[in-house]
Amino acid sequence: MLHRQIEHRLHAAVRIVLPDADTESLLVRPCPDTKFGDYQSNALMSLAKARKLNPRQLATDVVAKLDVAEWCESVEIAGAGFLNFRLKCATVEQKLASAQRGEHLFFEKTTQPRTAVVDFSSPNVAKPMHVGHIRSTVLGDCLARTLRLLGHRVITDNHIGDWGTQFGKLLVGWKQYLDRAALQSDPIGEMERLYKTVNAACDADAAVLETARQELVKLQSGDVENLSIWHEMIALSQRQFDEIYGRLGVKFDHTLGESFYNPHLKSVVQELRDCGIARESEGAICIFTDGAVPPKDDPFLKQEDGEWHPHPALIQKSDGAANYMTTDLATLVHRMATWQPDEIIYVTDGRQQLHFRQLFATFRRWKPAATTRLAHVWFGSVLGEDGKPFKTRSGETVKLAGLLDEAEERAFKVVAEKNPELPVEKQREIARTIGLGAVKYADLLPNRQTDYIFSWDKMLALQGNTAPYLQYAYTRVQSIFRKAGVASGVVTEFRLAAPEEFALAKHLLNFGLSLEAVAAEHRPNYLCNYLSELAGHFARFYEACPVLKAADVERATRLGLCDLTARVLKQGLDTLGIEVSDQM
Ligand code: ARG
Repeated sequence: MLHRQIEHRLHAAVRIVLPDADTESLLVRPCPDTKFGDYQSNALMSLAKARKLNPRQLATDVVAKLDVAEWCESVEIAGAGFLNFRLKCATVEQKLASAQRGEHLFFEKTTQPRTAVVDFSSPNVAKPMHVGHIRSTVLGDCLARTLRLLGHRVITDNHIGDWGTQFGKLLVGWKQYLDRAALQSDPIGEMERLYKTVNAACDADAAVLETARQELVKLQSGDVENLSIWHEMIALSQRQFDEIYGRLGVKFDHTLGESFYNPHLKSVVQELRDCGIARESEGAICIFTDGAVPPKDDPFLKQEDGEWHPHPALIQKSDGAANYMTTDLATLVHRMATWQPDEIIYVTDGRQQLHFRQLFATFRRWKPAATTRLAHVWFGSVLGEDGKPFKTRSGETVKLAGLLDEAEERAFKVVAEKNPELPVEKQREIARTIGLGAVKYADLLPNRQTDYIFSWDKMLALQGNTAPYLQYAYTRVQSIFRKAGVASGVVTEFRLAAPEEFALAKHLLNFGLSLEAVAAEHRPNYLCNYLSELAGHFARFYEACPVLKAADVERATRLGLCDLTARVLKQGLDTLGIEVSDQM
């Protein structure tokens, strides 16, 4: 990629001027304002500051040694020491031509592949997936796709919640209130009903609660009947989850639920006690602070009334039961031993931040030599248009399956209205692509740490920063090729002339940068915004530069730009987990 090549030359020049400088962090990035150049580096200013040099003088010295004439028209020093690079027209044209020949699509596979485990979706058995799980599913899937596209080794693991105290109540419900027919038609719905029924009964009658506790103990000690019911609950839930994953086009390499780690929990607790990280407290086993970091960064302390108090992580309750934390510790150990990952990414909502801070801190104390990067990729809530947590009209949490149905239904109305001549089958297929794409994009577009407001009208709009808008840009190119009567992908010579052609071409060049930013910061919104800008550049180009009425090199150049735009849109959307259709 060009910015990388320029960066290398910049590093070399800096090393001539300052032989001992660490050049790794000197970056070249797209210029925020193309008036000044195509790429820019502000790195010399911080370098000068750190060394108490005059930044403009340093810039002048570096530029004197900087050789980028192969690709750049000029290098200008601006402001306090910015370097602005302007690409040569021929360089841009060559890049387009090599992409058109299929040598690249404006990104490069990494030369240093890493192994990343992505832990995402992770719904709970016997409970319906809700909008929070869709966000985890969509974000996690996009991160996995991005890392894979860039050449990393990715292992996806669905950490299903298939163990825990809820099974005591579920077992009571199953044995006393099960409606087999309802279980057939909507297994999770029926299990949810059982849980709610018994939960209410427990509140009213302590004896029921005691029965539930006994059922749980029986399950945990391997009672054959309870185990077989539990297996059935998992299988039925998994079937319903798989239906949703099938619709969303999401696949997992592994589905190792919490129960998979049961045999290892005792030894995790023992080891942590043996090495002095965990200790007994009021009958439970807990991890307390080791005082290694300032209180404000210490997940084992909390502030109350201006004072710091212990905030231990529980790994074994006083009744001897392990919990979510114990399981996550065992999971970490298993993943390290099995896949030797360089990075583990956990995608869950923001309410689990403390859990993961404690988990990561414990792991660092336990395995100080491990260099694995642990990342909690958390996200905010989905809100209704009233700004309150997204609920159905009757106040229930919104379930995923129904949400996807509604998305397709709403998209179908739009498609049928716009394309009455298409057969219904085709209308349905297009509506599926648009509806699911809209929901996914709405999840991926906002900064993931902010709450976002779920709005059907906004996400399904054909204008604005939406999936349908991007999908529509793609179909426009397809229709140009249909009208042109040539196949896309023909090798052409590029001769850029109009400013709109240049702007589009240069934006294409930066596709890889957006992918790398997604991978580095676990933020799919960078790719969404890149694609939305691409569609904007394309619209301006298409408005200003007639394609089919042009002739010769001009026509070939424009067709080539159309084709490359469509290919980047398609690849980009695919990386977001969104399909395109050739008609809309
Ligand atoms: N099952 C959990 C939930 O629904 C998410 C699990 C996330 N992964 C993990 N390793 N803790 O909230």
